[in-house]
Amino acid sequence: MRRSSIPSPLALILPANDETIRLAAKALSAGKLVGMPTETVYGLAANAWDVAAVEKIFAAKSRPATNPLIVHVAGVERLSDAIAWPPGAVIRKQLDAVVDLWPGPLSVVCPRGARIPDVVTAGRPTVAVRIPSHQVALRLLAECSFPLAAPSANRSCYISPTLPRHVCDTSGVGDHVSMVIDGGPSHHGVESTIILLGDRPRLLRPGSITAEVLALRLGIDIADFQSQGRAGDASGNDAEATPSAESLLAPGMMREHYAPTTPLVLSDSDRGQQPPRIGQGRGEGGGGEGMGRIAFHKLSQDEAAGYRVVETLSEHGDLDEIARNLFASLRRMDQAGLAVIHCDTCPPVGLGLAIMDRLRRAAARTESRSQGEST
Ligand code: TXA
Ligand code: MG
Repeated sequence: MRRSSIPSPLALILPANDETIRLAAKALSAGKLVGMPTETVYGLAANAWDVAAVEKIFAAKSRPATNPLIVHVAGVERLSDAIAWPPGAVIRKQLDAVVDLWPGPLSVVCPRGARIPDVVTAGRPTVAVRIPSHQVALRLLAECSFPLAAPSANRSCYISPTLPRHVCDTSGVGDHVSMVIDGGPSHHGVESTIILLGDRPRLLRPGSITAEVLALRLGIDIADFQSQGRAGDASGNDAEATPSAESLLAPGMMREHYAPTTPLVLSDSDRGQQPPRIGQGRGEGGGGEGMGRIAFHKLSQDEAAGYRVVETLSEHGDLDEIARNLFASLRRMDQAGLAVIHCDTCPPVGLGLAIMDRLRRAAARTESRSQGEST
């Protein structure tokens, strides 16, 4: 297949079909990077067994080498490509309890297989593995004779991509990929749920498969399952996990992440409850003008008054819709030249836990700046 002669990053986006999937598999086996659709967010994929290829992921994202990657496999029969096989009795029992959630947005952290190089796991004895449910990802994985390491295809700490063009835009990693396969908008819109298996199973990152479901499956008290390992709970309370325990269990869960460049204020923060409508938010620190509002339900005229841009993620507060639309909306708002973005919040329960986890991290930089200003 010939690329367009116009040198545009968008020329890298190819429709998903047998030919492009074969091309992508070929590029991957030659040690190149490919933008891969998944049901959660777009991934930046490389052959997980190829050290030099995986190193390109870290360079493309400016990702710290201490932050390990998730390995994707085509099916349960290929788990042995990534994890220690056969698994010990404890891990086997826990895998049995969750295995029917695959293919799907679940990653499990368990002892790593011998072929997974240190660069993938940041030298850890464990590896995160998942079987994605996106048909294009599954076809690509089936076409490859190796597993795929794939973080979200954004520059480190920016907003995860849910459309192929997000991989290529100025905030993306388009210069580093040989192609992006277009699999349409990501269905879930938040990254996979990550759990740690073993003697003390833990929720490391909330996602579409909820903590409640997983704790029940694993027969663990939900409070135990959610304690430690994450950088603070979704209500913003960082007290539970000491930095060392936290970085030991969940190295990638930075307090500041998914952050737009424009200041982001959540509606349940002190500043958000009384939006500064006077002056239309001018000079609030984003360098732009006016306020944007990301709403979780359709706003009345009165509620929408004073905002230069309003985006409604769901007419009636449906959490699936909110999660699916959140990252694309944050990106659009970030490009709208606003002084500040106000975003609604939801109770941190079920999928709401994942939504609030991402929003807390996205707003963390703004919060620490405003705390710095007031002290
Ligand atoms: O939905 C997803 O999981 C997407 C798509 C592309 O599959 N991938 C994704 O990858 O979100 P990434 O790299 O953005 O997030 C991976 C997370 C990081 O927080 C990392 O620290 C954690 O997984 N992780 C990976 N291996 C780990 C390990 N051995 N122990 C603990 N955490 C691990
Ligand atoms: Mg990521």
